[in-house]
Amino acid sequence: MEISKAIKYVGVDDHKIDLFEGQFVVPNGMAYNSYVILDEKIAVMDSVDAAFGKEWLANIKAVLGSKKPDYLVVQHMEMDHSANILAFTKEFPEAKIVSSKMAFVMMKSYFETDFAEKQVVVGEGSKLELGSHVLNFITAPNVHWPEVIMTYESTEKVLFAADGFGKFGANDVEDPEGWACEARRYYFGIVGKFGDFVQAVLKKAAALDIKTICSLHGPVLSENIGYYVNLYDIWSSYGVESEGTMIAYTSVYGNTKQVVEKLAEMLKAKGCKKVVVADLAREDLHECIEDAFRYGKLILASTTYCGGVFPKMREFIENLTERNYQKRTVAFVENGSWGPQAAKTMAALFAESKDIKFAENKVTVKISMKEDTLAQLEKLADEMK
Ligand code: FEO
Repeated sequence: MEISKAIKYVGVDDHKIDLFEGQFVVPNGMAYNSYVILDEKIAVMDSVDAAFGKEWLANIKAVLGSKKPDYLVVQHMEMDHSANILAFTKEFPEAKIVSSKMAFVMMKSYFETDFAEKQVVVGEGSKLELGSHVLNFITAPNVHWPEVIMTYESTEKVLFAADGFGKFGANDVEDPEGWACEARRYYFGIVGKFGDFVQAVLKKAAALDIKTICSLHGPVLSENIGYYVNLYDIWSSYGVESEGTMIAYTSVYGNTKQVVEKLAEMLKAKGCKKVVVADLAREDLHECIEDAFRYGKLILASTTYCGGVFPKMREFIENLTERNYQKRTVAFVENGSWGPQAAKTMAALFAESKDIKFAENKVTVKISMKEDTLAQLEKLADEMK
């Protein structure tokens, strides 16, 4: 993968990984991207996961031949990018390390050295001239760690965006769903809580003429940059990306599921543009989270359980609220054999959330769907269509 004559890809694809960051399923593997910029001075942009140190160093050497790098730019200290910094310094002892002040503090914890004699500390507005290429540094705190910097190479107009614009999936596996699907799951899973910080970086990026985005994960983005930036703007401002209603449910014996299927049918019949139904006990949690953020309306349907709500529903709501879920209409469907409590419990889980509108109608089911359930569903479908 060649970005330009001077900028080469030296990253790796991981097909052995089972869970990225210990929790995200990655059926198409994962890419840890790294790049080399060749000029009078040579910079390597970021490292890769611990398991791929040898492959990464071999990739660098294959690009450099007999030349040696002058700099390793460390944009982000999460282990999938920082694990091989020490190995790099052993292989290329003359090279300097370019990073934020905070990243060097982290390096001390990781490696018991902060590479004092090699440090080039950069912050907002710092520049590093490589020759005809110039690296312009942008701080990007909490996207999604506090030490993160991004780098704009102003000659070729390339934004090295750290984790920004990343996606799940190895680069040697074609993703038939395109960039957005796994980029959205990645964004809301990993960065979703930090929307305000992403907005701050997007404001800085708006002043730049960007021709190419080089993320630390996923493909190099070089066409229609506005498409990606616009989606990041929607996601980070908690805007509604697609019209429609999501119904997320849990069901123990199938009765709540039957109610949900009826509700989905009614929503469609009443003209709802898109109805997405998710069984929280069986579907990937992070697929469900991305859909909750994608659509503007969310109906939560759950069994009452231990005087509260079914555990998978509690986990789902907590995953939404800890990611600052907001600007949405939320409705509840509860089921209970003798004392339904699920709706009250679900609403209480949003107590700290801002800008959530609760639907006026709720549906209470006693064990299974009956005539009165249908009447309640009609009212809710009218409100949430
Ligand atoms: Fe890809 Fe936050 O590390």
